[in-house]
Amino acid sequence: MEPWAIGAESTIFKTEQWGRPIILKWRPEKPYLLKEIDEQLRRTRTSRECKMLTYARLLGVPTPAVHWTNLASCTIAMDYIEGRQLKLMAGTLSRSLLHELCYRFGQSIALMHRGNVVHGDPTTSNVLIDGKSRLWMVDFGLAEWNATLEMKGVDLHLIHRALETTHWDQQEDMLAGVLEGYMSLLGSDAELAFSRMKSIRERGRYH
Ligand SMILES: Nc1ncnc2c1ncn2[C@@H]1O[C@H](COP(=O)(O)OP(=O)(O)O)[C@@H](O)[C@H]1O
Ligand SMILES: [Mg+2]
Repeated sequence: MEPWAIGAESTIFKTEQWGRPIILKWRPEKPYLLKEIDEQLRRTRTSRECKMLTYARLLGVPTPAVHWTNLASCTIAMDYIEGRQLKLMAGTLSRSLLHELCYRFGQSIALMHRGNVVHGDPTTSNVLIDGKSRLWMVDFGLAEWNATLEMKGVDLHLIHRALETTHWDQQEDMLAGVLEGYMSLLGSDAELAFSRMKSIRERGRYH
């Protein structure tokens, strides 16, 4: 089967099951890692991703539904989202639609944080926008439960950093949209997370 997309740590296939399109996310072996460590890592991430895709849905975050998971082959079968990465669309959207999508991105992150879950890799490649301008979150292999304020601050910091590196010309509008969306659900808890994000950013400057 031809790969449909190649991600940072996975290969994505698009196929069909019972006449419906599905995505297979497969984490292949990494030849440069020690075999046992590699296998452990791939299984942990696969298992975590499967649980977190579902748990995030419970918290209200739109994610593709998981059909099955095979930990032996490190593969997850999930719904195919007919859409594109926010990263690739950002440059083509009107300012108001981009703001709206970033606002909803911020709200999705807030729903997770309210449930004490962090996404772990909240970049605009992991946000998909479908043909009806609905937003979907993917890539939960680094997500964590029992998240502390520090972990939430790191999640926000990662968004900030992703926006400044991949969307340097739109980053201010986009960040404003994300933070407004986050704030709309979390109120004063959002302020705490924002100030943690700022202090993490300050710390980063000296490293
Ligand atoms: N369920 C899905 N439906 C449609 N496209 C998907 C789906 N899951 C992943 N993709 C596409 O494949 C890319 C890589 O998947 P991702 O889960 O982010 O893997 P990686 O951990 O390798 O980055 C995503 O950015 C997205 O474009
Ligand atoms: Mg990804």
